[in-house]
Amino acid sequence: MPEVEKYAVIGHPIAHSKSPVIHKVFAEQTGENISYEAIDAPPEELHNAVTRFITLGGRGLNVTVPHKQAIIDLMDTLTERAEIAGAVNTVIKLEDGSLCGDNTDGIGLIIDLQDNLGLDLENMRILVLGAGGAARGILATLAELRPEELVIANRTLDKALDIVDEFADIGRIKARSFEELAEDASEMADADADDDIDDIDDIDEDDDYSADDYIADASGSDDEDDNGYEGDDDNEPGPAFDLVINATSAGLEGKVPPFPACIIGPDTVCYDLSYSMRETPFVTWAKAQGCAAAHQGWGMLIEQAAESFNIWRDIRPDTTDVRKQLPS
Ligand code: ATR
Repeated sequence: MPEVEKYAVIGHPIAHSKSPVIHKVFAEQTGENISYEAIDAPPEELHNAVTRFITLGGRGLNVTVPHKQAIIDLMDTLTERAEIAGAVNTVIKLEDGSLCGDNTDGIGLIIDLQDNLGLDLENMRILVLGAGGAARGILATLAELRPEELVIANRTLDKALDIVDEFADIGRIKARSFEELAEDASEMADADADDDIDDIDDIDEDDDYSADDYIADASGSDDEDDNGYEGDDDNEPGPAFDLVINATSAGLEGKVPPFPACIIGPDTVCYDLSYSMRETPFVTWAKAQGCAAAHQGWGMLIEQAAESFNIWRDIRPDTTDVRKQLPS
């Protein structure tokens, strides 16, 4: 019988990680003879922990918070997508013993959004909140799909602007601060009101509609929401996005940053890259704003794991079973 091949996830803290459970299900399902452990390594121990694991025969690693960027220094090579993301979540020990860093987070998210949740990303206006490592890990993959609109908003605007510059060759991304998102919304509302006033000129004499009706619409008094934005019934894009992805780490401290409520409308799908056995603060907030649906990042976790497994073992597990075993 061939020797068990060793894999692990490395992070700090790591006790909460579901990766060992997920990979155990994958191994059983595919009949692959592997072990998968969790390694708790604080930042100052990262180098030693990786070296020890590889020296003792480790074939591959998943990398989680807070090491996704720091581990790059220990890699001999990076895949193009890891290089673009500036972050590694999968380490592969190659035949020659060298270490290659890859990143399956972006593709894991896309598979969950498109295949599991059935979203048509190319035709969506997408907002990514946050401009740290988690946002970088997904933005290039999203930009490659060339969605109708892709906006990144961050508390520190300069970090969002840096990402826009870096990813300029991949696809068009707009950078905004949270305040600017709210300003965009009120500008759109004003423009909409102006349009409606212009429309008064076009009123057909035979129409059962008086000029007063148009003025009432333009004032926003009919449909105004909590933010003073007047909802409209035509097909013009409004300030609410089709998909809002939370890539900030604020939820780890139990917080929701001051995102303007106008980014969420009744058709908006919200997705939190974070996940928890309880509802994450962002999901609670998004539901309170009346979104269509709000998901935690469990699906992305499972799909990025399946992509890693495929890279290591050359077989992609079916994720249906493991999705049933974890919250959604
Ligand atoms: P990660 O690897 O999880 O992305 P990170 O690189 O430290 O972690 O990035 C954290 C992200 O969450 C950043 O976009 C950060 O905003 P700043 O760039 O302005 O620091 C965002 N973030 C964290 N806590 C936040 C909070 N309380 N309010 C708003 N944004 C927050």
